[in-house]
This record gives sequence, structure tokens and C-alpha cells, in this order.
Amino acid sequence: MDQDKLFALALDASGASYSPYSRFRVGAALLCEDGSVFTGANVENRSFGLTVCAERSAVSAAVSAGRRSFVGIVVATPDAEYPVSPCGACRQVLSEFLKPDALVVFGSSAGARVETTMGELFPHDALHELGGGPRRDPTDP
Ligand code: THU
Repeated sequence: MDQDKLFALALDASGASYSPYSRFRVGAALLCEDGSVFTGANVENRSFGLTVCAERSAVSAAVSAGRRSFVGIVVATPDAEYPVSPCGACRQVLSEFLKPDALVVFGSSAGARVETTMGELFPHDALHELGGGPRRDPTDP
């Protein structure tokens, strides 16, 4: 699936954002190895620290549906004039499932997009540097 289509899906997903505190909508479209796509939106909470970003919503939706192999993620921030990159918590969570060469794209309403990789966004990741790390057999629960 091409990047424009994924961006359109991410933008559409941002429409479901629950963001009464920041008024900052975010949508994410996660492309699975099998070609399927799972989307997510940010879900805020009045206890601010419990907010779940769009990227983590998408990962939860996909993993809950039985997917674990992802080739890329596209994030849309329609309320920003500039592209907003995934937060540190999301980088950590994405790195659990996306390999260093997986594509990561984030773009704003104004059309500017940043294209990078998981490895660029989250370098020196012990999980991958250790050759898969513990409990990385796909059949593991
Ligand atoms: N947010 C995301 O969902 N993803 C990002 O990549 C950046 C930030 C959310 C968290 C919060 O609901 C709002 O955007 C403002 O930070």
C-alpha cells in the first residue's frame, strides 16, 4: 500500500481522536506484513499521564487482532502546521514490533512529511542488537 493511501487512513483515524485537553488530534495507520492496516487515534485522560497516543492505540488494535509483524507506520497530525514525531514512549512500544528498517512517516495538515526508519528514531535498541532478544519467538504468548 502506498504512503499517500496510508496517510489518508491516518488522517481519517485522527477524526476519532479523544483530545479535549490538548485539542490536538492524532491518527496513525500501521501497515502489517500481510498487507492489512490497523489505525488508532490518541485517547486522552484527565489524569494527563494516562493519555494513550495514536501510535500505541494502533499497535494495541493490531496486536489484539493477532498481528505482530509490521512494515511501517504513518502518523497524521492535522492540527499542527509541522510534522510531529512519535513521543519517546511510543518509540519504545513501536520498537517492540517494528524492525530497524521499518518505515516511519509523520506528517502535518500543511502537507510536510518526514520519512524515517525505526532504527533512526530509536537507535541502539538492545532488543534488535541482541539478535531478537528474549521471548521473540512469534509463537510466544
Ligand atoms: N500525541 C500522539 O498521539 N502521537 C504523537 O506522535 C504525538 C502526541 C498526542 C498525545 C496527546 O493526546 C496530544 O497528542 C498532545 O500531545
